[in-house]
Amino acid sequence: MQFTYYGQSCFNINFKTYNLLFDPFISKNELAKEIDIDKIEADYILISHGHFDHIDDAVSIAKRTGAKVICNFEVGSWLEKQGVENIHQMNTGGKWKFEFGTVKCVNAIHSSSMPDGTYGGSAIGFILSSDEKNIYYAGDTALTMDMQLIAMQYSIDLCILPVGDNFTMGYEDAVEAAKMVKTKKAIGVHFDTFGFIKIDHQKVKSYFSENNIDLTLPKIGETIEI
Ligand code: NI
Ligand code: MN
Repeated sequence: MQFTYYGQSCFNINFKTYNLLFDPFISKNELAKEIDIDKIEADYILISHGHFDHIDDAVSIAKRTGAKVICNFEVGSWLEKQGVENIHQMNTGGKWKFEFGTVKCVNAIHSSSMPDGTYGGSAIGFILSSDEKNIYYAGDTALTMDMQLIAMQYSIDLCILPVGDNFTMGYEDAVEAAKMVKTKKAIGVHFDTFGFIKIDHQKVKSYFSENNIDLTLPKIGETIEI
């Protein structure tokens, strides 16, 4: 399986032949200028919450690709008003089997509102389970004891965690999150895009390795085997 990074919390993971695109925010990300948004393929688009740095390009990519958008109820209703037709609405605690595997929506401790200020419902994270791998994408969240529930129900091969601090948990809490979900492999996202979330890569990587967790801080445009 491959993970391709598009900056902030936007990335693609292929499950079998299906391309899953997460939290599309590319065209307004200064650091992601090299990415040609029109070349991004998506069969599914998963959106963790309504903040602009997770949804800004969702409408255009959804309309161009016809991808099915997986998101909470309120985000789905907002997308419908923007003319997006292929939407699967879920909410915290719910799971559903799709062609590529099962998605479960889990708690994220964060706020959510849509780009026009309307109510965005609860922010969520996703657990993706398939015959190949179980992956936890935390979305934007604080560290929460709820993450222990994930390890009780799933054997997580990889967790994708925000590490930028200020708006989400920082790297120290992200290490605790990886420990709670009992995985040794993590990818960091939600860093460097804005001044408040700029991180010292070496310091963050060292802290993870001191705690025996293999962390990748992907470069924008980079594809890594997972
Ligand atoms: Ni957010
Ligand atoms: Mn965010």
